[in-house]
Amino acid sequence: MNQDALKREVAAAAIDEIRPLLARDTVIGVGTGSTANHFIDLLAELRHDFQGAVASSQATAERLKGHGIDVFELNHVGSVPVYIDGADEINPHLEMIKGGGAALTREKIAAACAERFICIADVSKRVTVLGGFPLPIEVIPMARSYVARELVKRGITPVYRDGVVTDNGNQILDCYDFLIEDPQRVEFDLNNIVGVVTNGLFAHRSADVLLLGSDSGVERLLRPE
Ligand code: A5P
Repeated sequence: MNQDALKREVAAAAIDEIRPLLARDTVIGVGTGSTANHFIDLLAELRHDFQGAVASSQATAERLKGHGIDVFELNHVGSVPVYIDGADEINPHLEMIKGGGAALTREKIAAACAERFICIADVSKRVTVLGGFPLPIEVIPMARSYVARELVKRGITPVYRDGVVTDNGNQILDCYDFLIEDPQRVEFDLNNIVGVVTNGLFAHRSADVLLLGSDSGVERLLRPE
């Protein structure tokens, strides 16, 4: 099965996973990326079974609306029982690197608000140690060079993602050559550099459930205690 077919399989598994949580007043959180897009397309069939969604990006909001799914401002929503999103890498603790699509900040906010985070990913995303995928950092534009110098001091090689402006009007630095042995510590440290909006490590708020697609089917993994 090709990677796109695996993404669709895990998206379908996520639909089965959330179906029991849906009620007329339920608002769910929806992530960004090609795997999340498959989920949104399948979610369309259930649009009459729940109230709507909060979106982690403008692209996701547009796709949801295109399927007739109402999109709510997070500030106007009381609780979000579940958030569904992909990942660029995920380790055995269900800690992730996200933000390949530059939506990391809104994804992190939506994930923080959700009672349950379901990660949907094909098997190529599973790693032992995070960092093979360059870690994205969203920065305030005027701080970009300062943040880059601070990263170099830490032995990290930042590369400006030229031409990309986030939904929040900011810029992205991608961190190369950076294997991350202690994701919680690194997430905290990088977020303390002045000018950083957030980084793409999802370690403090890791996933609760991983639906992992491979040729042998969809495996359901829970975050270890
Ligand atoms: C978006 O900014 C990212 O965090 C995505 O969730 C991540 O890149 C996964 O994308 P795919 O589902 O397209 O692989």
